[in-house]
Amino acid sequence: MFNEKINRVVLIGAGAVGCSYAYSMINQGVAEELVLIDVNEAKAEGEVRDLNHGMAFSPSPLKVWNGSYKDCKDADLVVITAGLAQKPGETRLQLVQKNTRIFKEIVQNVMGNGFDGIFLVATNPVDILTYVTWKESGLPKERVIGSGTVLDSARLRFSLGEYFNVDTRNVHAYIIGEHGDTELPVWSSAMIGAERLETMIAKREENQACLDEIFTNVRDAAYHIIERKGATNYGIGMSLMRITKAILHNENSILTVSAYLDGEYGQKDVYIGVPAVINRSGIREVMEIELSDKEREQLEHSTAVLKETIAPLE
Ligand code: LAC
Repeated sequence: MFNEKINRVVLIGAGAVGCSYAYSMINQGVAEELVLIDVNEAKAEGEVRDLNHGMAFSPSPLKVWNGSYKDCKDADLVVITAGLAQKPGETRLQLVQKNTRIFKEIVQNVMGNGFDGIFLVATNPVDILTYVTWKESGLPKERVIGSGTVLDSARLRFSLGEYFNVDTRNVHAYIIGEHGDTELPVWSSAMIGAERLETMIAKREENQACLDEIFTNVRDAAYHIIERKGATNYGIGMSLMRITKAILHNENSILTVSAYLDGEYGQKDVYIGVPAVINRSGIREVMEIELSDKEREQLEHSTAVLKETIAPLE
């Protein structure tokens, strides 16, 4: 019998982020099956119909339907974007209590239906909710991944690309730490093509101040967007698709996902944004890159803030 491997993704949460993800999926042809689940079933059904009407223009066939938790049994990947979103002025960490309650129920429903794949979490505060998903699911740490600072790193690469007037794809620079107010840029290893960023900025005096401003705008990007349009969705939707592709296509790509630290960077028992190698098994390994003393201190602070937030939840 022809035994084609079908990749099934179950998306829980058909809001703006989930739908941007689904739209990217149709346009990028990353999986063969996409199941939408939402507490608002009519909304999920409407989104599925609308998405299906674009299928004639998709690069490869994708079966999309609005399903139920039963569909998780045969899923390779469950992506969670469900939960309450930030209101203008609200921090990501302020969402923690309500979204933790929602998550415990979702993860129990997924696991209760025999799921044995990989979780990808996007709901905020993402580092905390990824930890909750890991604890609640009982799955190995490698198979529970958060979107972490993948989007923040993409925002930084975009802004540096604009600043130096080079293609974003030739900028290699990471934001690590909490996906939120305590995140940090790793300037010490940032590269523009094959040139170190630090070498480039040493040539011009005003540049460090410009870099600081670039970082502040990256860190606060979601606040600025939420003030203007109420939510962020395309950037995060595409970041999730990038991670999905690295998993399902077994790419061994290095992405700054939220990963479980078990001694790396001197930290334990926390999910936080760090560069990691992503493939079909999930997180193949966390990469422990060299940090300057200041960067290491900033990462320690970010980890401490996340741990303080997790503690009362347990
Ligand atoms: C953002 C949301 C995903 O940073 O936290 O756009």
